[in-house]
Amino acid sequence: MTAFMTIERHILDKQRQHPNASGSLTQLLYDIALAAKIIARETTRAGLVNILGSHGSVNVQGEEQMKLDVFADQTLYKMNDHTGRVCLMASEEHEDIIPIPNHFPVGNYVLVYDPLDGSGNVDVNASMGTIFAIHRKISSSPRGVLEDVLQKGRDIVAAGYIVYGPSTMMVYSVGDGVHGFTLDPSVGEFLLSHESIRIPQTPRFYGCNQGNERYWTEGVRRYLNWVRATDDPHRKPLDGRYMGALVADFHRILLKGGVYIYPGDLRDPLKPAGKLRLLYECAPLSYLMEQAGGYGSDGYDNILEIQPHQLHQRTPLFIGDKVLVQKAESLIHEHDQEWLRAYIPYRNGQHLSEKKDH
Ligand code: F6P
Repeated sequence: MTAFMTIERHILDKQRQHPNASGSLTQLLYDIALAAKIIARETTRAGLVNILGSHGSVNVQGEEQMKLDVFADQTLYKMNDHTGRVCLMASEEHEDIIPIPNHFPVGNYVLVYDPLDGSGNVDVNASMGTIFAIHRKISSSPRGVLEDVLQKGRDIVAAGYIVYGPSTMMVYSVGDGVHGFTLDPSVGEFLLSHESIRIPQTPRFYGCNQGNERYWTEGVRRYLNWVRATDDPHRKPLDGRYMGALVADFHRILLKGGVYIYPGDLRDPLKPAGKLRLLYECAPLSYLMEQAGGYGSDGYDNILEIQPHQLHQRTPLFIGDKVLVQKAESLIHEHDQEWLRAYIPYRNGQHLSEKKDH
């Protein structure tokens, strides 16, 4: 009989390869996996809300029912606030950094997360996800400060996501490959189902919100035409797929090959970076994509090299097959000088008129 590789055992095996590891990161990843199981349980009950009472209403115990994204946020926070492994957290759901209460001990890790990405999909019973990144504290402040959260993707220690779909999957990396686990609900364990994921060399899909095409810059439009072109003898035209939930769209590209794009535009020249968030969406996914042999770019350069200036900073995203993403960069450099003149100051933080952009 083959041994079951649970996520706990897998993370522990990775820890043993680092004899000086304290075990704190291992425990932190377990805690995230446990939070994911609890969130998965709630998401699978989401279709029952119309029967059992809608979110925002009062349940039979007289307690107010939480919206699913608030529930996911609170679950991740409560799982990690008291363990002494984390000194600070940041979440898509909170305007500011989230300190650890003074009566709890702190550790050396910083956790940033998007608790329920694509939560709009809940109404149509489609996939959603959680994204997280873990950094080491870099400041001398014992309980951490904003500087500890504003770290480059390049300095991520571990990252991953959970996709709540027909089954729940957790995909993570600690810097030596990307590994995927599928939740077996009958035993409540994540079991190794996708070891050492590599993005396929033959791209199959592109994913984007084509409804936004009218706002896109010349370089991005040319790129989409290039991706869809049927006259390239070296590759087949890609098929389009779009779930409208970043985790689910990313997961497809990671497993099947291709490219996902959410470009910036000049609708408002003060907001040239598009919609997606750098710290808890695009940087962790770029880290995973690089670990799987692909590449994540903002259309200008590598996402992992962006020095964040704001907690909820946005970034354009072109992610997937390296050759496909580099083609987007070259078309943008060639055709989108006006956009780059607006975007580069934003990327460099010389643009802080958009301060509390949340
Ligand atoms: O981060 C927000 C998010 O919900 C992503 O999960 C998703 O990919 C994107 O927004 C969808 O945006 P749009 O509705 O513009 O396609």
